[in-house]
Amino acid sequence: MAFSTEEIKANLTEFAGRWKVRKGYEKGEAQTFLNEFFACFGPEVADQAVFEQHEAGGGFIDCIIPGVAIIEMKSAKEAAKLAKHRKQALDYWERSADQESGTAAPPYVLLCAFTKFELWEPGKFPGAPVMEIELDELAAHFAAFSFLLGKAPMYHANDEEVTIEAVEELARLLTSLEKRDEGSAGQRRSFLLQSVWCMFAEDTGQINDLGFTRILQGLVDNPDRSSADDVGGLFEQLNNSAAERPKHGMYANVPYVNGSLFAAPTHLHLEPEELKLTRRMAEFDWSLIKPAVFGSLMQTVFGPDRQHQLGAHYTPEAEIQLVVEPTILRPWRERIDALETFEEADQALEDLHAYRVLDPACGCGNFLSVAYREIRRVERLLLDRTDELAKSEGRAESKAERDSYFPLSNMLGIEIESFAVDLARLSLWMAQWLAGKELNLREKTLPLADLDGVVRGDALQIKWPEAEAIVSNPPYHGSQNLRGVLTEDQIEFIENRFDVGLKDLCVYWFRKAADAMRPGDRAGMVGTNSISQNRARSASLNYVVQAGGVVTDAVSRHKWPGEAVVNVSIVNWVQKPGPAPKPLMLDGEVVTGINTRLQESVVPVEEYEVLDANLLKSFQGPIPVGPFDLSIEEGHALRKSDGIEYSEVVRPYLVGTTL
Ligand SMILES: C[S@@+](CC[C@H](N)C(=O)[O-])C[C@H]1O[C@@H](n2cnc3c(N)ncnc32)[C@H](O)[C@@H]1O
Repeated sequence: MAFSTEEIKANLTEFAGRWKVRKGYEKGEAQTFLNEFFACFGPEVADQAVFEQHEAGGGFIDCIIPGVAIIEMKSAKEAAKLAKHRKQALDYWERSADQESGTAAPPYVLLCAFTKFELWEPGKFPGAPVMEIELDELAAHFAAFSFLLGKAPMYHANDEEVTIEAVEELARLLTSLEKRDEGSAGQRRSFLLQSVWCMFAEDTGQINDLGFTRILQGLVDNPDRSSADDVGGLFEQLNNSAAERPKHGMYANVPYVNGSLFAAPTHLHLEPEELKLTRRMAEFDWSLIKPAVFGSLMQTVFGPDRQHQLGAHYTPEAEIQLVVEPTILRPWRERIDALETFEEADQALEDLHAYRVLDPACGCGNFLSVAYREIRRVERLLLDRTDELAKSEGRAESKAERDSYFPLSNMLGIEIESFAVDLARLSLWMAQWLAGKELNLREKTLPLADLDGVVRGDALQIKWPEAEAIVSNPPYHGSQNLRGVLTEDQIEFIENRFDVGLKDLCVYWFRKAADAMRPGDRAGMVGTNSISQNRARSASLNYVVQAGGVVTDAVSRHKWPGEAVVNVSIVNWVQKPGPAPKPLMLDGEVVTGINTRLQESVVPVEEYEVLDANLLKSFQGPIPVGPFDLSIEEGHALRKSDGIEYSEVVRPYLVGTTL
């Protein structure tokens, strides 16, 4: 009989507890581990598993569930370097398909190192795992493995739940504070961010005894006390850099945190209902919160009007990977694979630590935090490779044991909205702690790193800092909307500065990126698909290529998965490369070259002559803009109103859509 959800979760919790304490994992334990793992879901799962099956390339697949999944096991010490083993697992998967016998490759691949699981759906998402799960998170994410029971998996189902609930509660608290006019708008937002960090720090065990939840409970129990004093006092302590820490009382052993987050500790008074709400929020498991929480928080806090004005739509991770993978990861992986000597590896490590990433429309930092996480994984691979080479050359030094790491301050951002800047910094601080945990690094994360490189500013007006990689999803606004959302001054600035007329807003980001890049720098940006079409191609992609850019990887047309009704193109390019970059990928296929129409071609810019024969034969027709649409009846009435003939200004027009 199938197990209930509760039974599966309990089994997985017990399984994780058992395997966490088992020392000296060897690959020899893989079968026992998998059999016990399958048994958590029900006896029928283990019955289907076939172990050590020969595969077409000459290797042995650790485990196959025919038609469902391929499972590749690695020993536990590989947990931090699973990325290194992806190729092997995906090669097995690819070779498992056999057209002749009509055997399709199974939909799922599980790459596992006992304490860490990477789940793949390579047929749908070949570039990155659909989910990464730690051993002790199995119960929370059991729904990701529903395919073992013949059901569709639900990835991040729990995180989503926590994330949505958390955002709703945060928004409720903010609205309540706004209604009472408690503090200024800036203080209210700071209060949220300072509280979120405290809840995250508590739930991830980053600070023992921070006492945030205890202080909230104390306030709920003692209505004569005020959060302005008690919570405000905690924030003051977190901002106090004195070496001597309080030894007793409410703030005993609270460390110095700052990193600008607590530079202005907020002292807000919460009413009893607001206190209970905050206390409830502290009960969420904030360690499960993903950066997406900040995207939806930002959208909720801005409200639809401001969101529309800013063109602010946060980017889901799957889309971010379409930029981060080709622009940042692939080049680094290739460099690591080509390393032959310790000296080369040491130089690569030095270069990685000097490597900067800029998002010039960074919003709440989604691109930056995903890019940061992936760079840290690359760093781990590089450290291990460096040590391997040191050993093979008989050198004593071990780089993996050193104290200097890829600096968080190398992540740079520009964003026009100050609340988003604060959110971006917060999500990077969280990403730093999460990376340390995942990769088992001894890096100190407190006090919080300086993130002055994530700045508030108008990216079109200020000079961009130097960076080896630019990744971004600049705001969406069609050329026809610009006058509605930008000020007169901004329009005038754009017209004078770029001298290409009014184009879709993202066009100017492509131009600025092209201007800022030095030979060898890379960029990956998402833009409205006009960048490859007649309307805006010459001002954007043609400009990029004419400035020396070579498009290396592009998605020609992609329907935006979020709320914005827009088709986007995703373009990655390298500036004036030395040797010709390879492979070139267009819409997931290897191609010989990519032109600025985002078609396969070895000629990068292909513009065609206008056919004289078509001159004055047809025209695009008017594009109505503005709130001036009238119904046919209203139009008729207005044309003849007040005895005046308005037919000069009230005109009928036809559209090609069937009503
Ligand atoms: C499409 S959103 C992308 C945000 C973020 N990169 C993400 O994916 O979640 C565009 C961002 O650009 C910001 N923005 C709009 N105009 C800007 C400008 N002139 N300078 C800098 N940022 C701007 C918006 O506030 C918004 O956060």
